[in-house]
Amino acid sequence: MLGTPQSEVLKPNRICNLQTMKKIIAFGASSSIHSINKKLATYAASCVPNAQATILDLNDYEMPIFSVDRQNKDGFPQLAHDFKDLLMSADGIIISFAEHNSSYSAAFKNIFDWISRFQGNLWYSKPMLLLATNDGDRGAKTVLEQAHNRIARKNPYDIPHFSLPNFPKTFDDNKGILDSKLESQFQNALAVFVGQL
Ligand SMILES: Cc1cc2nc3c(=O)[nH]c(=O)nc-3n(C[C@H](O)[C@H](O)[C@H](O)COP(=O)(O)O)c2cc1C
Repeated sequence: MLGTPQSEVLKPNRICNLQTMKKIIAFGASSSIHSINKKLATYAASCVPNAQATILDLNDYEMPIFSVDRQNKDGFPQLAHDFKDLLMSADGIIISFAEHNSSYSAAFKNIFDWISRFQGNLWYSKPMLLLATNDGDRGAKTVLEQAHNRIARKNPYDIPHFSLPNFPKTFDDNKGILDSKLESQFQNALAVFVGQL
């Protein structure tokens, strides 16, 4: 394991009624310790009203590289069960995808492969918000499209998605998304997600 485990629980940003508070699981689909996608996922989770958000760090879920033979021989790693159980306990899931060679990061793909082998729907049955960012003009749109195609195809909800280009210029740790047009697009996607919780 390369990173320091960094899962955290965000303070609810507005508490009206504890019984109606929604449980959100959010993470950057990256194993980078300074992941900009983890920052964007955390920001998005903090914008969900009446929610208790848990931010996962994929470094906490590093497992052997998936193979059918390994699964047949050894079964599922405990971490795959743990990750699946967290997803199953959530009312909604937020993922921000890092783009590596036009695709998922290896850290995310390995988790995806393991948990896709469980019976049932996993994240195909929950409201989801899919995000992506990088430091360039395309905003990691290639991986976002790939993820959206894969997840929205099986998920009964209308899965909103948003890509933030040029992260170092368009995002501030304290202020969030700086560009008003991009912030408006983000809020539209967020509103669809919140409406489905
Ligand atoms: C192995 C590797 C491959 C990458 N490939 C791409 C790519 O295909 N497209 C892209 O936009 N950025 C690519 N990048 C740059 C990442 O988008 C950038 O590192 C971004 O910060 C990753 O998000 P993260 O900070 O959340 O890990 C790549 C980075 C690495 C380390």
